[in-house]
Amino acid sequence: MSNLIRVENLHKTYVDATSDDITTPIEVLKGVDIEVQQGEILAILGKSGVGKSTLLHLIGGLDRPTSGSVFFEDRNIHAYSDRKLDQFRNLEVGFIFQSHHLLPEFTALENIAIGGLIARKNVSETYSSANEILDYVGLVDRSNHYPSELSGGERQRIAIGRALINQPKVILADEPTGNLDRKTSADILDLLWDLNDRLDRTLILVTHDHGLAQRTDRIVHIVDGRITDQNQIVET
Ligand SMILES: Nc1ncnc2c1ncn2[C@@H]1O[C@H](COP(=O)(O)OP(=O)(O)OP(=O)(O)O)[C@@H](O)[C@H]1O
Ligand SMILES: [Mg+2]
Repeated sequence: MSNLIRVENLHKTYVDATSDDITTPIEVLKGVDIEVQQGEILAILGKSGVGKSTLLHLIGGLDRPTSGSVFFEDRNIHAYSDRKLDQFRNLEVGFIFQSHHLLPEFTALENIAIGGLIARKNVSETYSSANEILDYVGLVDRSNHYPSELSGGERQRIAIGRALINQPKVILADEPTGNLDRKTSADILDLLWDLNDRLDRTLILVTHDHGLAQRTDRIVHIVDGRITDQNQIVET
């Protein structure tokens, strides 16, 4: 396996305006170092508020660090202009959020296709890929349904489909099964593992679910703003 992502000395401090307008900086990440190999499934664990989503957003280029670097295939993505970072995020990264974030006024098929359209790929090819993906996530017969007409598990499967449209090298999933029952969670995880197995996609999962974490190749914890306790589960 080769190195896909390398995070070096990453810091993130939020400046939070309090009610009396005094700004109190919150130092969330205090020097995170981590490497992720191509094809790996990594779980990130840690207590609520420790910075797991923050780290995932910085790795995927959804937000900028206060300092430090994220190298993707040896390119420092936070040295990119905002425009280039948007392009990177759209083409190389698939995000799956805890709540699906589907666009309510678009159908299931359109929600999957949208990343391809934003990337200005050929429209009919994009829709044809979106149809294949719908089939892959088992929802061809829900193609014209709006998110409000789908169950929670179906929405999450569409959200996975949306993450796949541009064939990203890495999929970042933030508690992808957090709101789902056991059976639906198991189906979603089977889909994610299949992506890794058959298509060699790298997966980084944030989770509170120890059972899920144990199925991954490697576990890291965030404690007090840094990565620690590699490969064992500590109570969170
Ligand atoms: N935009 C923001 N502005 C100010 N503070 C923020 C912002 N986003 C997150 N924070 C703070 O940063 C800390 C880390 O947040 P983050 O969402 O990364 O935690 P988390 O580990 O994902 O937690 P959870 O398990 O509850 O999802 C929290 O204390 C949060 O309040
Ligand atoms: Mg979070």
